[in-house]
Amino acid sequence: MSLDARTQGLLLQFLLSCFVFLSSIEEGSAGITSSFIRSEWPSVDIPLENEAFAVPKGYNAPQQVHITQGDYEGKAVLISWVTADEPGSNKVQYGKSENKYQYTAEGRMTNYTFYKYKSGYIHHCLIEGLEYSTKYYYRIGSGDSSREFWFETPPKVEPDASYKFGIIGDLGQTYNSLSTLEHYMQSEAQTVLFVGDLSYADRYQYNDVGLRWDTWGRFVERSAAYQPWIWCAGNHEIDYFPYMGEVVPFRSYLYRYPTPYLASKSSSPMWYAIRRASAHIIVLSSYSPFVKYTPQWVWLKEELERVDREKTPWLIVLMHAPIYSSNEAHYMEGESIRAAFESWFLHYKVDLVFAGHVHAYERSYRFSNVNYNITSGNRYPVADKSAPVYITVGDGGNQEGLAARFIDPQPEYSAFREASYGHSTLEIQNRTHAFYHWNRNDDGKKVPTDSFVLRNQYWGSNGRRRKLKKHYLRSVVDGTAK
Ligand SMILES: [Fe+2]
Repeated sequence: MSLDARTQGLLLQFLLSCFVFLSSIEEGSAGITSSFIRSEWPSVDIPLENEAFAVPKGYNAPQQVHITQGDYEGKAVLISWVTADEPGSNKVQYGKSENKYQYTAEGRMTNYTFYKYKSGYIHHCLIEGLEYSTKYYYRIGSGDSSREFWFETPPKVEPDASYKFGIIGDLGQTYNSLSTLEHYMQSEAQTVLFVGDLSYADRYQYNDVGLRWDTWGRFVERSAAYQPWIWCAGNHEIDYFPYMGEVVPFRSYLYRYPTPYLASKSSSPMWYAIRRASAHIIVLSSYSPFVKYTPQWVWLKEELERVDREKTPWLIVLMHAPIYSSNEAHYMEGESIRAAFESWFLHYKVDLVFAGHVHAYERSYRFSNVNYNITSGNRYPVADKSAPVYITVGDGGNQEGLAARFIDPQPEYSAFREASYGHSTLEIQNRTHAFYHWNRNDDGKKVPTDSFVLRNQYWGSNGRRRKLKKHYLRSVVDGTAK
């Protein structure tokens, strides 16, 4: 039976209304302040004797095993571990099949004192020349005390390489931290982008500072021994204690968590870059000088020039203090780094800037404030297609608890905010699209809460864009852009 003209007209009107309504949801001009209120778990550190910090059995057994990318391209891995009783071996045996270790690499050993605490023997060993997309098994330690682990190398650096990153910040070592870590490990992400504030050992005094660095190393080993964690330093890494005679910033952190900074021509382990699969990841230090002419400023300027979006379409920046956060905690602490680098982020079309520091979750729309200056009177952030999405994931679960007070009303740049613990994942599909999720720890359960499809800032706006269906182009993120 055919519809008459009036019915057809009404149907058309209805469909049109639906389209406009759905489009307005996608454009999401109003931000969301989540009404979820979590019941607080105790924000206290897990006791020293808890099994979460278990010391591996055996004399001088390697502990606190963790790995990170060891070069610029993902063909090297830097393996670190600690031995407690004696220096032991610096060797790593490794190979492509279990229990068959064809290769051996020799590392180096170091140690340090912090007040009267003497660290264990800290080993770092670089293994190079690895094949891409390959599972490697490795063994460290000797005799009955040796331990075996494995990791998988990333795919070759090329524009359509898919890859899944996890993002964790401000982790600490509480029961909430354990929940975050366990949920992250269910995510099947392949590498952690860690946005600073590792152990919160600096909340302790005297010898306990060193002891809590050790417990944290044993705590994260369950993940960090099997996949690289890309390190970025936060304020809790500063470890500045004049009353204990400890005044060298980042001392414990630098002894324990090396980075492949030389590979990206950096002069400091505090800031560096790596390329992994289809991503170029730039790590900045919020607590090292970054104003014009300083080494970090000069390095970043040169590194941004080296980014080749034809090879690595995804440009991701990590830093500790967020630039666009509307939480009362640490409000505007990222303003000085915004003034230094925001115009570069726009010019080079950075896709994402991940930060921590604020113990809550928040995601921005694409906004910028580069028109602000001290005489123009332009002082409000505006929607800007060239801007990255800024995401704060300082919600790992440390002993300082949540930052629950957001500024009201929610500013226009803020798309979603919630004071809960959790972690994020970024699943890169190809050069044009990635899926992003933030997963809340909801009293022990992992609950996907904020998610969107991200369109690449470089490839999303060239000829390929026209081949995609129109609705794919209207991602939530781009919604506020004019
Ligand atoms: Fe922090």
